Amino acid sequence: MTAETTAGPLICVVGARPNYMKMAPLLRAFRANPALPKALLVHTGQHYDFALNDRLFADLELPAPDVNLGVGSGSHAVQTAEVMKRFEPVVLESGPSCVIVVGDVNSTMACTLVASKLHIPVVHVEAGLRSFDRAMPEEINRVVTDQIADLLYTTERTAHDNLAREGIAPERVQFVGNLMIDSLQAAMKKAVAPHATLAKEGAALELLSDPAGFGVVTMHRPSNVDDPASLAKLLDILSDVSRRLPLVWPIHPRTRANIDRLGLGAQLARVRMACLPPQGYLEMVGLLSNARLVLTDSGGVQEETTALGVPCLTMRPNTERPITVEHGTNTLVPRDGAVVLRLVDEILASGGKRGRTPELWDGHAAGRIADHLAAWLTQRAAAPAEAAA
Ligand code: UD1
Repeated sequence: MTAETTAGPLICVVGARPNYMKMAPLLRAFRANPALPKALLVHTGQHYDFALNDRLFADLELPAPDVNLGVGSGSHAVQTAEVMKRFEPVVLESGPSCVIVVGDVNSTMACTLVASKLHIPVVHVEAGLRSFDRAMPEEINRVVTDQIADLLYTTERTAHDNLAREGIAPERVQFVGNLMIDSLQAAMKKAVAPHATLAKEGAALELLSDPAGFGVVTMHRPSNVDDPASLAKLLDILSDVSRRLPLVWPIHPRTRANIDRLGLGAQLARVRMACLPPQGYLEMVGLLSNARLVLTDSGGVQEETTALGVPCLTMRPNTERPITVEHGTNTLVPRDGAVVLRLVDEILASGGKRGRTPELWDGHAAGRIADHLAAWLTQRAAAPAEAAA
């Protein structure tokens, strides 16, 4: 008898954009592994816009979710509570072998809490990352999820030190590499050329003819875009940088809403930049891989630029992904125009920081997780009392 006929399903949870790049290769690997039970995809509905959701599902060849909880936006408490309320009956009805959560968004923590209280094992993929900044909502989500998850898969070795410091037994932790790179490698062959992306959005194509090349911007963290003074300062810095090289900025809905609400649209229009709506994954990979440099506050983009060897300036005081700074092409920058311009000039003059690919960021993380998980579930089934101890 296969595992599929004897055990409850694997429930795989996604909620927001950065989850999809991780879950797409993982779900494929789960469904291709006969030793694993059937995998169900549950979408919490945290992200629901076409650009943030459906388009990425198509680009990543993620199948339609088996269940969509339709939670939508709200305050942190409302969003987290809604996910919990709507996820609990799904778990109760399906009796899963385990629940698999990825990353650090509100849906990750909410589903972990629900499953854990129902005594269903939780597997957290991308565990142990720490910014040590509790003002970031994601940091709270990471700490809570890792404390109560049963099995933790990591992308870099510093995560093991972080987890050990928080009292998490090393037997619960497994280094597997980075699923983001599995998706990146799969998408490179299909990436959309920057010209096609700008043409589709009706942006000025001559921006791409500058001899300096072009820079790509992504910004959506509350610390950069929610405070009016910080956002205005950010736009000033982008304006200065755009005098060195033109910029392309697919603007996150959160950032767009703040720019409109604060009346900063006119300031934005003065920047030598193509302002685009959020882009699909294949467009994003095309932009990032052809960029001369990237200015971001995203977690995933720090990893993608390291894997692509493209210089990345991350506008944050910290990163939960230190390997991108230590081994990769990433540099943390303050919200300070002089510092940013100096680094941009260095990149334009010398190509910037040379990075190397971190250990196990090789495109095969999903297969490693599927194999390990199959063995772990078999072991638990054979000795449930021991495993629970
Ligand atoms: C969430 C994640 C963040 C991740 C980011 C990627 C948390 C705490 N944050 O942040 O870690 O990097 O996704 O995008 O989970 N909105 C839309 N359409 C949507 C979804 C949201 O327009 O489909 C707007 C709403 O106005 C909403 C705002 O964006 O209030 C913020 O959305 P939310 O899901 O709360 O967080 P993100 O900022 O997207």
